[in-house]
Amino acid sequence: MHRTLLLSALILASCADMMNSHRMMAAERKMLETRKLQQAGRWDDALAMAERMHGSVARTIQSAPSQKSAQGGRIDVTPLLAAWEKGPFAELKTALQKRDATRSAAAFQSLRQQCVNCHAVLGKQHIRLAEIP
Ligand code: HEC
Repeated sequence: MHRTLLLSALILASCADMMNSHRMMAAERKMLETRKLQQAGRWDDALAMAERMHGSVARTIQSAPSQKSAQGGRIDVTPLLAAWEKGPFAELKTALQKRDATRSAAAFQSLRQQCVNCHAVLGKQHIRLAEIP
């Protein structure tokens, strides 16, 4: 009985890990897709896709707020998510709402940089994100 419980717990834990890994890969795809839509002048679609990208990042963090830090201990990454949301993600949304191509291009760069920053805090520098075209 105990063994079954332990096994189920282990399986559930690794499923959650895999789900988060998939969610984050989806976030990267959606980031690039948002950029494509923006460059095609499909501003409303770009905004909708940006929201979906946000969903992928936010769900990952909300389901696993406690992460191993680069220093070895565990840290709560919720504040990092909040910084990402209030900073570059909010700026990207404003740029898209204003249909400002120059401002959008800059916003995409800082958004991507903040993705990289969070990974660095967690010692995940091995994650190579695609450049914003
Ligand atoms: C607040 C912290 C945080 C932010 C912001 C963040 N990530 Fe992540 N990212 C993580 C964590 C934690 C993982 C490890 C997830 C797992 O596998 O459990 C991760 C993993 C990844 C991976 C690797 C997935 C794999 O298994 O191959 C990719 C790709 C990724 N993130 C893309 C992004 C993109 C794109 C953004 C910005 C749009 C972003 N991340 C923003 C915390 C963050």
